[in-house]
Amino acid sequence: MSKIWVKKPMSAYEADIKKSQLKRVLGKWSLTAIGIGAIIGGGIFVLTGTGAYYNAGPALALSFVIAGIACVFAALCYAEFASILPVEGSAYAYAYGTVGEIFAWIIGWGLILEYAMGSMTVAVSWSGYFAKLLKMFGLHLPAYLTTDPQTYIAAGNSGFSMNLPAFLIVFFVISILVRGTKGAAKANNFIVVLKVSAIIFVIIAGSFIIFNSADPFKNWVPFIPEATTITENGVSHSAYGIAGVVAGASAIFFAYVGFDAVSTQAGEAINPKKDVPFAIIASLIICTLLYILVSLVLTGMMHYTDFNPLGKYPDAIKAPVAYAFDIAGYAWAGYIITIAATVGLISVLMVMIMGQSRIFLGMSKDGLIPATFSKVNPKTGVPTKNLLILGVLIAIVASLTPINDLAHMTSFGTLFAFTMVCVAVWVLRVKEPNLQRNFKVPALPLIACSGIAINVYLIFNLSKEAQMYSFAWLIIGFFVYFLYSKKHSKLQNGGYGETFKAEQEPLEKPDLD
Ligand code: ALA
Repeated sequence: MSKIWVKKPMSAYEADIKKSQLKRVLGKWSLTAIGIGAIIGGGIFVLTGTGAYYNAGPALALSFVIAGIACVFAALCYAEFASILPVEGSAYAYAYGTVGEIFAWIIGWGLILEYAMGSMTVAVSWSGYFAKLLKMFGLHLPAYLTTDPQTYIAAGNSGFSMNLPAFLIVFFVISILVRGTKGAAKANNFIVVLKVSAIIFVIIAGSFIIFNSADPFKNWVPFIPEATTITENGVSHSAYGIAGVVAGASAIFFAYVGFDAVSTQAGEAINPKKDVPFAIIASLIICTLLYILVSLVLTGMMHYTDFNPLGKYPDAIKAPVAYAFDIAGYAWAGYIITIAATVGLISVLMVMIMGQSRIFLGMSKDGLIPATFSKVNPKTGVPTKNLLILGVLIAIVASLTPINDLAHMTSFGTLFAFTMVCVAVWVLRVKEPNLQRNFKVPALPLIACSGIAINVYLIFNLSKEAQMYSFAWLIIGFFVYFLYSKKHSKLQNGGYGETFKAEQEPLEKPDLD
């Protein structure tokens, strides 16, 4: 067998866990809050208008169901992995211990798209809500300080521009994260409560408005509008019908990105084998239910065609949830939602950056990326340099890149990782059927195949540009692996002692109790 398929021995994971300087401070509800903190964000607050107008109409709720199902398959597979290998590093670590180094590397490289690009997308979404918040107080930031250069020039301007709020919010979040996980988890718990309260407020207040109107069902009929073509600035694309509902699932998939962030925190969980699978599934179920209800309320309050950016409410598509209340005559409710979204997006950013830093930590411990990324500050228990390097990169790219490119590439990275996890958990079940699993996916071949099929299908529904850039990113990853990572890999260089023997040895469960 080629060395690139070498597997990290379980004894090495055990040693990593014993040596780990990360503090085990997270219980099952803190972990669930981390999941919810990462999931609810720009997707529900921003992309719902786009999904309703361009793709699904009132059937947007069905798009959320489809995307939710794609995630549930992957979540079950993540949960089984987390119950075997409760270590930081998420899908990357799972693949390293089970399928082999090259597979793990490419998952880790793909996860950078999910977490780092995800952080950038959220930073840009935050900037949009922050600008709206300032407007509420009569303050107005000039376009050259809130717009990436590409969008700025496309709008007919010239000269310097950057998204300054997106740049600054990243450093604000990093300043919280470097103080330690416990403090960050506390801040996250507070924000999650605020964000979920805002979502529940939207559902209750919105339902009240809908059912007090003269004809409550008028905006929901027909629920799946007839397929048609929308033409905008000379570009046509198909919308609505069943195909529109499926395309809507790809369009809003970003809203679900993040539940797997729970699995990146396993190194800090008090009882990782039980609590990580619990938190992955619990956070996903809670968010799916909330999403379905919010999308029903939104399309019930406002006719889906009113989200047309060239129509009578051109700004509604940028902050659809807040505008739906504004337009219905409840501006005060729109203000509450704007405040909650502005604060709420900070927690998504926090969890995404924390997740990326822990993936880098795992890859660095294995020698696949430089050692700087695995230096943990003994006082705070967090990888400070890792966080600072990430912060600088995320802040710069977020301030200079258009949001659509970022969001689609984030979805690509996530769907790619989900597909790989479905493959890897199945391979492991066949190769190591007797390994102790605290959580087992029922009817695994069916679940894994369905997960792979639906995730790959959604990848091919993303924008062509995102597919092209993301494939290019994966190819660059192969070069980096062969030019740097393979040469520095601890496993390839005997750094884990029993290195290649591991390939022949049956897997043993690390004893974490
Ligand atoms: N799911 C997260 C969001 O919607 C990334 O912002």
